[in-house]
Amino acid sequence: MTPAVDPRAAESLLAFWAEAGVDACFDEAPVDRTRLPPPAPRQATLKAVASVQAPVASGDIAAAVAEARRLAAAADSLEALGEAIAAFEGCGLRTQGARQAVFARGNPTAPILAIGEGPGAEEDARGQPFMGEAGRLLDRMFAAAGLTDRVFITNTVFWRPPGNRTPTPEEQAVCAPFVERTLALLRPKAVLLIGAAAAKSVLQTDDGILKLRGQWREWRLAEGDISAPALATLHPAFLLRQPLRKRQAWSDMLALSARLEGES
Ligand code: URA
Repeated sequence: MTPAVDPRAAESLLAFWAEAGVDACFDEAPVDRTRLPPPAPRQATLKAVASVQAPVASGDIAAAVAEARRLAAAADSLEALGEAIAAFEGCGLRTQGARQAVFARGNPTAPILAIGEGPGAEEDARGQPFMGEAGRLLDRMFAAAGLTDRVFITNTVFWRPPGNRTPTPEEQAVCAPFVERTLALLRPKAVLLIGAAAAKSVLQTDDGILKLRGQWREWRLAEGDISAPALATLHPAFLLRQPLRKRQAWSDMLALSARLEGES
C-alpha cells in the first residue's frame, strides 16, 4: 500500500528545495549527469553547435532556427514579433518549467536596444525582462545617465532557463532570429549588451566580459544591410555581487549616453 503523504511535510520539503534553488523538476527518474557527455563549448555559431550535437539534435536545431527565421521575418512590428515569439515552439526552454514567453519592455521607438541574458523568476512571473533586483539596478543606472525612456530591453532567450542557469549556445542560436529581427525593426542608434552571455552570443566571440566591456563593436546582420554599434557592459546581477565593478559599468553608461549625443 502506498504510504499516505502528509501535505504539510510535502510543503515543507518543497519550500526547503525552493530555498536551495531547486525550482523545477523534469523526469520521474533521477539522471546520472556524471555519465552524460560534457556540455558543448560556449561558441554560439550554429555551425559550431551543429558539430557538437548528435545528427538528430543538430537537425532539430537547424529546423527550429529556420522556423524562427520564418516567423521573425513575417513580423512587421515589434508587437507582431512578440506574438510570433509567444507562438514559437522550437526553443527547448519553453517546456522546462517556464510560465510564459518574456519578450521585451520599454520604448518601441527607442534609440537604444539593450539585450540581457534571459528571464529569471520574476520576469517569468510578470512577463517582462529585468523586473527583479538586477532590473531595478539597471533602471537606476539608465535613469542616472538620463536614458530612461530611451531604451527598449529584451534578452537573448525568451523563456526562463530552469534554476536561472545560463542559456546554452543552442538555445541562444534558436532564439537569435527574433533578436536580430528586433534590431531590424527597431533600428536603434546603439545596442547595449548586458553581461557575458549576451555579449558572447551577439558578438559571436568567446572573449570574457572583462575584456569585451567598454569597447564598441559593429553588430552587422548576415542578411540585409542592417547594423548598429554595440557596447558590452557588466551585468547588474554581477554588480550586485561585486559592487566595486560599478565604476566600470557606469563608465559604459556614460559612453552610451555620449554616443547618442554625438548622433543627435
Ligand atoms: N537578467 C537578464 O539578463 N535578463 C532579465 O530579464 C532578468 C535578469
